[in-house]
Amino acid sequence: MDVVEEKRNAAKYALSFVPSKGTVGIGTGSTVKFLIDLIGENREYYGEANFVPTSKETENRLREFGLNIAYNFRGKIMIDIDGADEVDPQGNLIKGGGGALTREKIVAHNSEEFVVIADSGKYVQRLGKFKLPIEILPFLAEQTISNIENLGAKVNLRDNGEFKTDNGNLIAIADFGYISDPEIVSQQLSHIPGIVEHGLFIKMATRSIEGHGNSVREHVYLKKKGEGHNQ
Ligand code: 5RP
Repeated sequence: MDVVEEKRNAAKYALSFVPSKGTVGIGTGSTVKFLIDLIGENREYYGEANFVPTSKETENRLREFGLNIAYNFRGKIMIDIDGADEVDPQGNLIKGGGGALTREKIVAHNSEEFVVIADSGKYVQRLGKFKLPIEILPFLAEQTISNIENLGAKVNLRDNGEFKTDNGNLIAIADFGYISDPEIVSQQLSHIPGIVEHGLFIKMATRSIEGHGNSVREHVYLKKKGEGHNQ
């Protein structure tokens, strides 16, 4: 079974989590594209749902299907469904391969459930083979990069600084090697001024849907946000 089919199967399975009414976060990337297409094919059923896109790319695709977009509203997002670049056994993630990590993290943080959909190749024992994307302000970017390097990473700018996020910022790609304590690295990065957000999503996913061969595997990490992570 190829990767594309695994992504499609994970997205298909996740469709049953999308409510017909209420507010739903929608991530970014090729796996999520399958989900948007499935929602779009059933546009009438989802006519009363409001979708919160995590990128302009996702917003455009939702709009093409005539689905409702929501940005300014009060209250929690019922559920957010997004892809990932790596998923560890505790459900910690590396995200941001598409450069949308800041909006993705904001939406995931404000959602009651955060469901990851991914092909089996994304499931790893330890995070870090996929280099960590970090969104940084252009202002004094070299100093910010040097602060990240001081944590032990080799850092390059995505597309030599040509790539700009939807927020007009740069993406630094940090190679930490395998990350033995993702929580500590996450905290260290969060203390560096100039970093808007980084792609370590620690204890955020409530569950993930893994496309695995012809089938899917469901991994549950949290019953509800804030109820303690499965170890
Ligand atoms: C974008 C992301 C994506 O969810 C991640 O890169 C996975 O993408 P894909 O579904 O194409 O494999 O974090 O910023």
